[in-house]
Order: sequence, then C-alpha cells, then structure tokens
Amino acid sequence: MHEHIQQRIQSIIQNVEQLPSLPDVVSKIINMVNDPDVSFKHVADEIAKDQAITANILKLCNSAYFSKGKEISSIDRAIVILGLKEVKDIVVIATTKSVLNKVIVGYDLARGELWKHGVAVAMLAKKIATECNQKAIADIAFTGGIIHDVGKTVLALFVQSTFKEILNTVTEKSITFQEAEKVVMGFDHQQIGEQVAIKWKFPKVLQSIVRYHHEPMNAPDDHKMIVSIVHIANTLCLMAGIGIGSDGLYHELNYDAIKLLSLKDSELEKLFADIPELMMKAKDIL
Ligand SMILES: [Fe+2]
Ligand SMILES: [Fe+2]
Repeated sequence: MHEHIQQRIQSIIQNVEQLPSLPDVVSKIINMVNDPDVSFKHVADEIAKDQAITANILKLCNSAYFSKGKEISSIDRAIVILGLKEVKDIVVIATTKSVLNKVIVGYDLARGELWKHGVAVAMLAKKIATECNQKAIADIAFTGGIIHDVGKTVLALFVQSTFKEILNTVTEKSITFQEAEKVVMGFDHQQIGEQVAIKWKFPKVLQSIVRYHHEPMNAPDDHKMIVSIVHIANTLCLMAGIGIGSDGLYHELNYDAIKLLSLKDSELEKLFADIPELMMKAKDIL
C-alpha cells in the first residue's frame, strides 16, 4: 500500500472543504420530504429562494422522463402534479450535475460519462424498487443511484497515479477493482463517497447506498434492501456499457442481493433489456 497516498486521502477527508460541495437547499429538501408533517408550501418556498435552481427544476419537470403531460410553470404546481418525492429527485438532479458531470481522469471517464452512469443507475434502481414491491423507497433508490459513485470524483487523481498497480492487484488477487483500490490506496471510492454524503448532510440511508453499493450484504440490516437495489442497477448499467471506464468489467453481481429481492433470471434480463429505452427517455436530462 502507498502510505503517502493513504495519508493524502486521509487529509482530504479531514479537511472537508476539499470534498465537493452542494447548495444547502438539497439536504434541506431531502430531509423535509422525509418528514411526514411537512407542508407543500414550505418545500416550494425553500426551492423558490434560489432562482437559478428553480429555472432548471422547471425545465426538468417538463422533460420526457418526469413530465406527466401537463405543462408545469411553478414549483407549487410541480409538487401538486408530480408529488414531493419526485420534485425532491429533480432537485437532486438539478444540483448534483455540476459535481458529477466532469472528466474523471483515473477512471478514464470522459466528460458526462459519470453523470450519464448515475442517471442510468437512478432510473433503473427506481424501476427495480417499483417492480419489487418497494415503491415507498423508489425515490430514495433514485437519489442514491445518482450519487453512488461520487467518491470517484475525489479518488480519480490517485487512481491515475496507481492505475497499473490497481490493475495488477485485480489480476493477482482475483478481486474486484474497488477492492483493489483499497489494497493499493488504503481507501476505495465507496468510503470517500460516504464522507461526501456526510458532508452534504444526506440521511443515513443515502450514506449507506454510497458506502456499500459494491458490497450490499455489508450494509446495516435496515438498509440492505435499498443498497441491493442500487447494487443491481449499477451492475446491470455497467454490463450495458454505461459508465464503463478503466475499471471495466471488474465488478461482480452479488447473488445474495438478487435473492433478497427475489429476482428471477428472466426478470434481470428484462431489466437489462429496458435500459436503452430508459436512456432514450432521459435524453434531455443528460
Ligand atoms: Fe462504484
Ligand atoms: Fe457505479
């Protein structure tokens, strides 16, 4: 292991200003939506405070993926037509794009690739949740899908300088790319991502999704289901070639996660086959 790299990553984690930032409105909205007593008006007012975000949100509300066919011209109306949870996911899309829509050097992801990957995983995770009788948490699966790889934005430079070694470790030890990150650098992108989610004041369940998306069975018991959903969505999107970088296909589909969701092979194949259509619908989000 490269101790100097481990120390540098440690110091980034400790000086949180070095981790990516997000406007406060995002965690406010996410936590408000979790509160059963929240008023629509309160949420709408909070969003409307930020005019730049509001314009972007209205555009997204009328996009093919989110639109319900009725023109939406105010946040109040968006909440009435789409619902609080959907509007919350739109707020997440509108605000995280600038963090995730970058060139991710070490992972060899061109500009926009990590963003596209996050959106694909989000949509598929929401679909899996809905189809597996987990509709109540479908919106959380969506938010988690968007941000699950945020740690890569921080770790990229270190992966770049140790890339050969990571790849050698993958072959020598027959482990996954993310496991090799930890062996070589002392940290993997899940752990850094968790720190970002903590900095953003995101709820524990989202922290778990980011922290365990490659190892769903290590998540806390009450989060295993949702982490498994995002894990499966992530692996299927990688198999479909969306967001594949230098880590290529060095990922594994966890069979306990599939069992937990009682997904049959034919259902997994169907989900996989649905990806191109979802991507078409998301064209104006990307
Ligand atoms: Fe990942
Ligand atoms: Fe991913």
